[in-house]
Amino acid sequence: MSTKEKIEQLKQKRAKALLGGGQDKIDKIHAKGKLTARERIQSLLDPGTFEEYDAFKLHRCYNFGMEKTKFFGDGIVTGYGKINGRGVYLYAQDFSVLAGSLSGTLAEKVCKVMDLGVKNGMPVIGLNDSGGARIQEGIEALAGYTEIFTRNVLSSGVVPQISGIFGPCAGGAVYSPALTDFIIQVKIQSYMFLTGPKVVKAVLNEDVTTEALGGAVMHTTKSGVTDYAAEDEMDAIQYIKDLMSYLPQNNMEDPPYVPTDDPITRKSAVLNEIIPDNPNAAYDMKKVITETADNGIFFEIKKNFAPNIIVGFARYGGRSIGIVANQPSYYAGVLDIDSSIKGARFVRFCDCFNIPVLTFVDVPGFLPGTTQEFGGVIRNGAKLLYAYAESTVPKVTVITRKSYGGAYCAMSSKHLRTDINYSWPTGEIAVMGSKGAVEVLHAKGAKAAENPRAFLAEKEAEYNEQFSNPYCAAERGYIDDVIEPSETRYRIINAFESIQGKRDTIPMKKHGNIPL
Ligand code: HXC
Repeated sequence: MSTKEKIEQLKQKRAKALLGGGQDKIDKIHAKGKLTARERIQSLLDPGTFEEYDAFKLHRCYNFGMEKTKFFGDGIVTGYGKINGRGVYLYAQDFSVLAGSLSGTLAEKVCKVMDLGVKNGMPVIGLNDSGGARIQEGIEALAGYTEIFTRNVLSSGVVPQISGIFGPCAGGAVYSPALTDFIIQVKIQSYMFLTGPKVVKAVLNEDVTTEALGGAVMHTTKSGVTDYAAEDEMDAIQYIKDLMSYLPQNNMEDPPYVPTDDPITRKSAVLNEIIPDNPNAAYDMKKVITETADNGIFFEIKKNFAPNIIVGFARYGGRSIGIVANQPSYYAGVLDIDSSIKGARFVRFCDCFNIPVLTFVDVPGFLPGTTQEFGGVIRNGAKLLYAYAESTVPKVTVITRKSYGGAYCAMSSKHLRTDINYSWPTGEIAVMGSKGAVEVLHAKGAKAAENPRAFLAEKEAEYNEQFSNPYCAAERGYIDDVIEPSETRYRIINAFESIQGKRDTIPMKKHGNIPL
């Protein structure tokens, strides 16, 4: 064969590889309103940056006549490319080849890019759309999945790992995304579950739809498995790109600095008015975040799961910052099982990747009651304490109003190795709220009083005067300064600047034992 013919042969093979399972299968995917694996990659990466690997790889299965069903690439497209000029390794399951089902060969391709990601310190992104383990390959498919899971675990905290769910993701296959840092799921067309509706019916006699059991809305509101429910595929891809902009490439780097035209000294008069005079009235903590962040931009994570706590990224003076905040407008911002887990996981992610943490506090306490206690609020609330205490990134806390009891301790208090703690003058920092405290302290007095209600009201006022303020904590140095709300942006930026060179450690150990 002449060189010219060899080049021609390459072109023909390449053209065949680009078609995956064939044009008819691609047409079927389009008819469902879905993109192909290659189209997803094209949309995600900067134009012309994709370097594909293993495009000619074939499976090695001879069971069930599989030797006659071979397609270049074997159901997955893998390689390297750039997102906004920064390198990533990625893979996209190709539904046109046997529904993107996972063969031993396919797993090898995934493992190759995962290994490259870790060695080269670059994020790994997986776009999932697959019928699960390739049934004809039996144990080899299971082994392949588990090789991927192992790499997910070993890469955790080394490079960011992001999973997009664009179609089916069932059985043990869900555990690779579950082991990654963020999951973005497309509404309607995708689902994640361990066992599908048919098995649920057979085992439990329960009727449930695919969407109700594992759709994006369920996972972003009830299970908390998914971080973002995308309206469509392009929305999911945009979310991944935006998310990446806040993250470093690996655990040895700082997150990218993005210069801002938003003056760092900008004051927000509206924050001087935001706390209602009635201590039981709500306000929107997101307003505090957007009023203080660069250009009012807040990138929220897990928006609809445990909305009593808010987590996400913003920039302050150009620096990427992870934000954790109680939300007084949802269940008074109380801490419960779900919100503790949500906050703890986010703090741990930030700590892995050198992203400073900013905490806004307005929390009445931990939620009491049998549901919470039976569900292990002790064990789960402890996760939040654990995450803050072990973290070594720069940490700044601003108490806007309530900060009571164990929730004071847990919300990045000074005692959890937080660097700078501020309070607004509206801060109420105490062991418990005045009503509960007075009922305990003055039960006997109230019984003896001529007018118990008036007596308790008087004692409550006394308690508020004495304890429900930021100055008791400031006197002890637990609060570094009481700041005017309108100046919060400037004070936060200054605080982070003053601790940007922070070096802190944890004692040498194999790893800690977070209460799981
Ligand atoms: C091999 C598969 C396959 C699989 C689908 N195909 N799933 N081949 N192994 N797991 C093939 C089909 O035979 C078909 O081949 C082609 O892919 C397209 O599938 P369709 O069914 O025509 O497509 P669609 O109607 O869109 O349905 C897609 C689907 C469905 C929902 C994914 O195929 C499905 O339910 N598949 C089985 C899912 C499953 O039970 N997987 C095993 C899970 S257990 P042809 O040649 O006709 O085009 C598991 C354990 C993992 O994954 C444990 C890890 C630790």
